[in-house]
Amino acid sequence: MYSTKQIQDLQQQSIHFLSKINGHAITVAPDKIAILREILQFHEYRYYVVSEPLVSDYEYDLLYQLLLRTEQAYPDLVTPDSPTQRVGSSLNQHFVTVQHLVPMLSLDNSYNAADLIDFDRKARELSGIHDIAYCIEPKFDGAGISLIYENDLLIRAATRGDGVEGEDITTNIKQVRSIPLTAAFSKYGIRQIEIRGEIIMSKQSFEKYNAQLAVQGLPSLANPRNAASGSLRMKDPKEVAQRNLDAFLYHISYYLKDDSGENNLLSSHSGSLELLWNLGFRSPQKEKRVVKGIQAVIDYCLAFEAGRDTLPYEIDGMVVKVNDTALQDKLGMTSHHPRWAIAFKFKARQATTQLNGIEFQVGRTGAVTPVAKLEPVFLGGVTVSSISVHNEEYIKEKDLKIGDTVLIERAGDVIPQIVKSLPELRNGHEQDIIFPKECPVCKSELYKEETEAVWRCINIECEAQVVEKMIHFVSKDAMDIKSFGEANVRKFYELGLLKDIPGIYKLNYQRISELEGFGKKSLANLKSAIEASKKQPLHRLVFGLGIRFVGETTAKTLANAVAHIFDFTGKTEDELIQLEDVGVKVAGSIHQFFKNEQNIHMLKQLEKSGLQLRNEKRNIVTAGSLSGQTFLFTGTLAKLKRSEAEAMVEGKGGIIVGGVSAKLNYLVVGEDAGSKLEKAKKINTVKIISEDEFIKLANE
Ligand code: IVH
Repeated sequence: MYSTKQIQDLQQQSIHFLSKINGHAITVAPDKIAILREILQFHEYRYYVVSEPLVSDYEYDLLYQLLLRTEQAYPDLVTPDSPTQRVGSSLNQHFVTVQHLVPMLSLDNSYNAADLIDFDRKARELSGIHDIAYCIEPKFDGAGISLIYENDLLIRAATRGDGVEGEDITTNIKQVRSIPLTAAFSKYGIRQIEIRGEIIMSKQSFEKYNAQLAVQGLPSLANPRNAASGSLRMKDPKEVAQRNLDAFLYHISYYLKDDSGENNLLSSHSGSLELLWNLGFRSPQKEKRVVKGIQAVIDYCLAFEAGRDTLPYEIDGMVVKVNDTALQDKLGMTSHHPRWAIAFKFKARQATTQLNGIEFQVGRTGAVTPVAKLEPVFLGGVTVSSISVHNEEYIKEKDLKIGDTVLIERAGDVIPQIVKSLPELRNGHEQDIIFPKECPVCKSELYKEETEAVWRCINIECEAQVVEKMIHFVSKDAMDIKSFGEANVRKFYELGLLKDIPGIYKLNYQRISELEGFGKKSLANLKSAIEASKKQPLHRLVFGLGIRFVGETTAKTLANAVAHIFDFTGKTEDELIQLEDVGVKVAGSIHQFFKNEQNIHMLKQLEKSGLQLRNEKRNIVTAGSLSGQTFLFTGTLAKLKRSEAEAMVEGKGGIIVGGVSAKLNYLVVGEDAGSKLEKAKKINTVKIISEDEFIKLANE
């Protein structure tokens, strides 16, 4: 796509423009607009198509703003392929029906080696050719689209629709930055072209997007495919842009060509993937393979299936295509699918099963979670028999009833979930799911806050909560008491050997040694793990206490803020809010916790048992040179490892915080710093320093 010389030139020009900007709202001369536009297109390509960016997000943004400002000064010079033209403004768009140049057919499916052998046999018989070359590529799990470029410009993007007609979604598709707004088809003598592809959402973007939804209290999306397909017809293109979608282009369905330009690439499918790749599209150029003989096809498909979970995006199979386009034409198509291609579907990760009942479980914070009990099904390598269905609203939204047939899904490493119920299969015997009014364990009345979706048992002596709290306390991320674990907590509790957290340090080992399965060795292991946990740093204890809304990061901030855990008893909510990551809700919860006599009593008992309630590190270094100052690192450091740098801060009494806010004193910027730097620039009080400046400061 770009020669080394072009890359060097474009990069040098980028640096030139960036040095000119240097914090000023400048514009460039009109004759420089074209090159600036080219620079931005180049960086979009580096970032979105080949995933090897050459400037930071921040620098890209500076260049983008420069172009935008200049275009605003010279509106006549705006071109339709300018990166600024992706931003859609047409709110509440409606989607016009359009006709595809060539119908968008589906693919025939195969599920095993025998199906593929059969496909090959038919293709050989029909064509009379003995050793057909096949091109194999992933079957992307997203939403199909069709693009038309005319005179090198993207002029239309459409959904698949019924295959003959789709809907015009050009504005939304322009938000997908791996789709170039312009591509030099004319170099190949092509004046008009129709390209097929798939809009997908990467696993990473999907997780990020769902995390964002969770923060806003919105229901999460079931899988990346739904996230991608649900985006195509969104009314607001800005919302589409936020979803960070991606696209793979895998098929040229039509082109109009004059006599100029080389065209031998179009005589094979692999050649057309290469052509698309050369023009800046994300085609499966690297993923594809051309082989002869069906056994090699089968091998490649199976190898890809084995590595499926290591890909950054979801695929649900492979597509096997006859490579020679003349041979494709000869084989032709049925009304439904081409005879020259077949999908090889991977083992299903969706299954239907029966919802047999709902069990209500009480967690350590008293939250009552409904768990669907299912008729066991084998799915993606494991047997699934129960799935959390979160809360009352979720059950309503999915329209679940006991006795329903439900569609469940397990994508990659993701925990299984119910995609939907199938109400059309109901026979009238299904029962509504009734949420209990009282705690299923201690029978006390349940409460629900207006702003929350969950019902809670607020009896802190509730057996379920007590046990879950202990399980959390000994867990890996908290006190990490190895060889204790959930099973032992439950067992000791049931036998009356353990009733609360302080009891962990007062176990009757004599009685435990009499239990089945506790030999000398396992008892010694348990003892030494419990003993070792007494030396755990304060932040682990703070996290282990299971204070509501206090996660690992907040626990670290909290532990860093005091010399002894009892210092919290004297802190007001207003004082707590001053801490990084601590908002009103968290402050209220912490305040509540340390106001409670029972909690203080528990902590005193733990201290007596020899646990670490003092912030040792802080005591040594309170007078350190960075005392009380907050730090955050962003980008890659050249001299120090991130962990070393953070240890330096903490060793000198400074505090590492989790994000940029007005409470941040120093942002230390390494190479390729991203959004944190951008955010920090907007806050006057944050000092932005380099790694060298940081080292100097720390050594002062
Ligand atoms: S080729 C005439 N290649 O799968 C050729 N399709 O189940 C038609 N799909 O409608 C399509 N990855 O949306 C082709 N590498 C790939 C694909 C692919 C995903 C989708 C496409 C198609 C559906 C058929």
